[in-house]
Amino acid sequence: MNKYIEIKKALDQKYFIINKNKIKNITDKCDYDSLFQRKREKMIIIHQALKQCHKCDLYKSRTQPVTGAGNVDANALFIGEAPGANEDIKGLPFVGRAGELLTKYLNEIDLSRKDIFITNIIKCRPPGNRDPNDEEIESCFPYLKEQIKIIDPKVIVTLGRHSLATLLNRNVKITKERGIFIDYNERLLLPMLHPAAVLRNNGLDKYMREDFITLREALKNEH
Ligand code: URA
Repeated sequence: MNKYIEIKKALDQKYFIINKNKIKNITDKCDYDSLFQRKREKMIIIHQALKQCHKCDLYKSRTQPVTGAGNVDANALFIGEAPGANEDIKGLPFVGRAGELLTKYLNEIDLSRKDIFITNIIKCRPPGNRDPNDEEIESCFPYLKEQIKIIDPKVIVTLGRHSLATLLNRNVKITKERGIFIDYNERLLLPMLHPAAVLRNNGLDKYMREDFITLREALKNEH
């Protein structure tokens, strides 16, 4: 299949969308539509590349790569760790219990999954949900860097210790660093706990709520 047909076919998939509400404030809708279309096509090219990626061994055991999902022009980009079993089957990020909880926190600040983009540091499921190793992270990181460039979000939200440590390339103490903005290449980075940690310990729920309110304030002028 030639590349153009591949892209057109992939455009019919619903992974990469736009929130039409955002268009309301844009005077030149045509310009906005074409900007969006370009972003969407670039994301689809990453998706195609991931389907053929053999840079590490994870492709051997995964069902499909999980590129990400949501608004390719979002103001907030959420980054988790790696797809789990449900995500591997569906090809979409955060579709299990942790994802449901994440959706609930978003809804509480009047956002939906269609307002944001969600992806992971690692795009293929590590067998048995083990932590990704350094080689896997290093191989996959360029895809995430490219996604950040395409989406150009106002705020990056990292979910959990691994995703924050990978972006900052240092050890982190997530319970100390959560909820406090960090400069990430002249962009706002807001570290949060991983929703799976809240599922294990409901006492962490109050921190998640606090951090989502912090996010809401940061995005306030953007809606
Ligand atoms: N946990 C993650 O970090 N990512 C997912 O996509 C699902 C669960």
